[in-house]
Amino acid sequence: MPTSVHLNPLQDVSAAEALAWHQVVAASTAHDLPGSPTPDPGQIHAQLTKPALGSRRLTWLATGADGVPVGVAGLRLFTSAGQEHLAELELHVDPAHRRLGTGSRLLSAVVAACRAEGRRSLIVAAAADSPGEAFSERSGFRRALTLDHLMLRFDEMDAAGLRRIADAEHPGYRLTGWTGTVPDDLADAFAAAKNAMNDMPVGDLDYGNVAWDADRVRAMGKVVADRGDTLLTIAAVHDDGTMAGYTEILLPRGAAPRAQQYDTAVVPGHRGHGLGLWVKAAMVRRLRAEHAGVVEIETDNADDNVHMLAVNHQLGFRSYRRTREFQLDVPAA
Ligand SMILES: CC(C)(COP(=O)(O)OP(=O)(O)OC[C@H]1O[C@@H](n2cnc3c(N)ncnc32)[C@H](O)[C@@H]1OP(=O)(O)O)[C@@H](O)C(=O)NCCC(=O)NCCS
Repeated sequence: MPTSVHLNPLQDVSAAEALAWHQVVAASTAHDLPGSPTPDPGQIHAQLTKPALGSRRLTWLATGADGVPVGVAGLRLFTSAGQEHLAELELHVDPAHRRLGTGSRLLSAVVAACRAEGRRSLIVAAAADSPGEAFSERSGFRRALTLDHLMLRFDEMDAAGLRRIADAEHPGYRLTGWTGTVPDDLADAFAAAKNAMNDMPVGDLDYGNVAWDADRVRAMGKVVADRGDTLLTIAAVHDDGTMAGYTEILLPRGAAPRAQQYDTAVVPGHRGHGLGLWVKAAMVRRLRAEHAGVVEIETDNADDNVHMLAVNHQLGFRSYRRTREFQLDVPAA
C-alpha cells in the first residue's frame, strides 16, 4: 500500500466529492462491466446523501498524494427491525490503482465500522469471475448466492405475444396501477402483498426479514421521489380486495433508456394462476405506451428462483451476466 494514499471518511457528501466518487465508479465499471451504465454525478450525489429506506450510510474516499480519487467504499447500515445485524458494502478501486492494497485498506475501515456499529453480517456483490470475486474470496467472504441478470429488449421481444398475455382475462382479478406512492385506499393491501417478498430465495445470505405496513410503503415512495427517480407499480387485485400480486419498475431520474425491475411478488394463496406473468406483461405494455424513451428492462433473480426465471424467460428476458453475493461474518476485534 503506497503511504501516499489517504482514506477520508465523508460526512455530508458535497457535489465535488460525489464527482470524485463518480470518477472512480465509472472507471471501475467500464473495466469490469463494459457497456453497463454508471449513474451520473447527480444521481450519485442523491444516492450518497439520501439513503434508501430503512438504512443510513457511511462513506469513504481514498485519494492519492495529489488528491486524485483512487477508491471508494460505501456502507449501508440497515436500521429496520429484523435487519439491525446487517450491513452492505459497495467498494471500487480505479483500475489504474489496483493491486496496491487500497481495496484491502478500505475494507479494513469498513469492517472496523461494522464492529463499532454492532453488525454481524457484511454482504457485498461482485461480478462472477471478476477481480471483485477474487478479492472477496481472498478477504474472508464466503459465497452465499448467485444472481442471474436478465434483460428484456423491447425491439427484440414478441410484442404481439406479450400483448396477448397482458390482455388475458383472469376471472376474479383486476389490474390496477399507480405512479410513485401507493394511493391511500390500496396502502394496507399493498403492504400485505409486500410481505410476500419475504420468502424470496436469498441463498445463504443472513438477510433478515422486514415487516411492511402502510406507513412503510408510503415512506418507500417518498425516498424514491426525493431521489428524483420514478416508481411505477402494476398490481392484480382480487374481488375480495386482497392484493394478489404486483410488480414495480424504477425509472432513474433523467431520461434513461434502461428501466430497473424492482419487486415482483405473488402472495402464496394466489400463486399458480399466471398472475406474475400478467402483471409484468401489463407493465411492459404501460412502459411502451407512457415512456417511449425506455427501450429495455434489467432484472436479476437468484439462480435457483425457478418460477421467477420461468416467468421472465417467457416474457422474453435473456440472461446476460451473473453476480455473486458474498457474506463476511464480521470477525470480533
Ligand atoms: C475488488 C477491488 C475493490 C480490489 O481492489 P484492490 O485495491 O485491487 O485490492 P487489493 O490490492 O487490496 O487486493 C488484495 C488482494 O485481493 C486479491 N485480488 C485482488 N484483485 C485480484 C485479481 N484481479 N485477481 C486475483 N486476485 C485479486 C489478491 O489476493 C490481492 O492481494 P495481492 O495483490 O497481494 O495478490 C477492485 O478490483 C475493484 O474495484 N473491482 C470492481 C468492483 C467490485 O467488484 N467490488 C466488489 C468487490 S468487494
